[in-house]
Amino acid sequence: MNAELIREQFPILHQEINGHPLVYLDSAATSQKPRAVLDALKHYYEWENSNVHRGVHTLGSRATDAYEGAREKVARFIGAARTQEIIFTRGTTTSLNMVASAYGPAVLQEGDEIVITPMEHHSNLIPWQQLAIRTGATLKYIPLQPDGNIALEDAEKTITDRTKIVSVAHVSNVLGVVNPVKELAEIAHRHGAVMVIDGAQSTPHMKVNVQELDCDFYAFSGHKMCAPTGIGVLYGKKHLLESMEPIEFGGEMIDDVGLYESTWKELPWKFEGGTPIIAGAIGLGAAIDFLQEIGMDAIHQHETKLAKYATAKLSEIEGLTLYGPREREVGLLTFNLQDIHPHDVATVLDASGVAIRAGHHCCQPLMRWLKASATARASLYLYNTEQDIDRLAEALVQTKEYFG
Ligand SMILES: Cc1ncc(COP(=O)(O)O)c(C=O)c1O
Repeated sequence: MNAELIREQFPILHQEINGHPLVYLDSAATSQKPRAVLDALKHYYEWENSNVHRGVHTLGSRATDAYEGAREKVARFIGAARTQEIIFTRGTTTSLNMVASAYGPAVLQEGDEIVITPMEHHSNLIPWQQLAIRTGATLKYIPLQPDGNIALEDAEKTITDRTKIVSVAHVSNVLGVVNPVKELAEIAHRHGAVMVIDGAQSTPHMKVNVQELDCDFYAFSGHKMCAPTGIGVLYGKKHLLESMEPIEFGGEMIDDVGLYESTWKELPWKFEGGTPIIAGAIGLGAAIDFLQEIGMDAIHQHETKLAKYATAKLSEIEGLTLYGPREREVGLLTFNLQDIHPHDVATVLDASGVAIRAGHHCCQPLMRWLKASATARASLYLYNTEQDIDRLAEALVQTKEYFG
């Protein structure tokens, strides 16, 4: 995989920020978009734009074919058995909320348990907190090891016969750990619980196969994997999605409407009320084509190599605290530099054209566990190179000098 050549395909990366060539190290927040995705959106609006599923005219069928074609691409990309299991949503947050509100109340009773971890993004924490409050269920946490990993023995102790839902991030957006979600699914199933996976930080970076993981629900966002904002996916096993009631009612999702009662379309459309995110889904399809042409294994290998290089480079900087395990296979590096506030670090780096993120990264409980009010985070993607890491390291050393 040649990151230099791949970079050429991302127009936004070829600009100067504050007089320096841009180094974009904030892809965990949102990725940049390649020309192929931008062109697909333009093509859709110039040649196909129409509402889907109801137009008898030519544009209507072009738009429907493109939209449903994107669903087929998503199903193949994540190894789903059928397209009915792919629901288009606004993103990971919406997908996880859908499970919490359409599946949760039907299965939970007072005293039942929902199991998550302290490393969860707020989007995989607050929906479960709310569900626990509404149903009287107990929210339980698999504790973290000192390096941020979770141990399966702890999962075995936390998940019990009262557990109905286990929901864990495939990859932590702060620690960069890859969680043993397949093994967790096996433990969950042994106790009769369903396994929900937050795939926001894994789907863009590694090959995912929902059937191999044997998860029951899998959520991810398009904008973190080269697609536009506003499109995401909820994968769910067919029998579970069939057992769930729709969340949004109105156009597009109905079969027959009477004055007092109505019936719903089949899967997946019963969960896609209103005019769907047509251009977004088509953009996601184009992003999947783009990523698959390069190859998810090649992308993962490139990022693992770069993550090792970055870990070594940052570890050389005196006064820099790197959080999470030393060995990392994903390009997520969270750190603090001496006692300089991470917002100040990010601001000084921006002056050198280096874009990183600072704050709590939507993980306030994890920040408390790390005993940090906030951290800085550099996150890598397929278009980053060793030169980007060198620029980051140089800018961090300058930041230290700047603050004396
Ligand atoms: C692990 C994780 N889960 C969930 C989300 C929420 O994704 P979105 O804002 O696209 O819904 C993010 C976004 O940063 C994330 O990193």
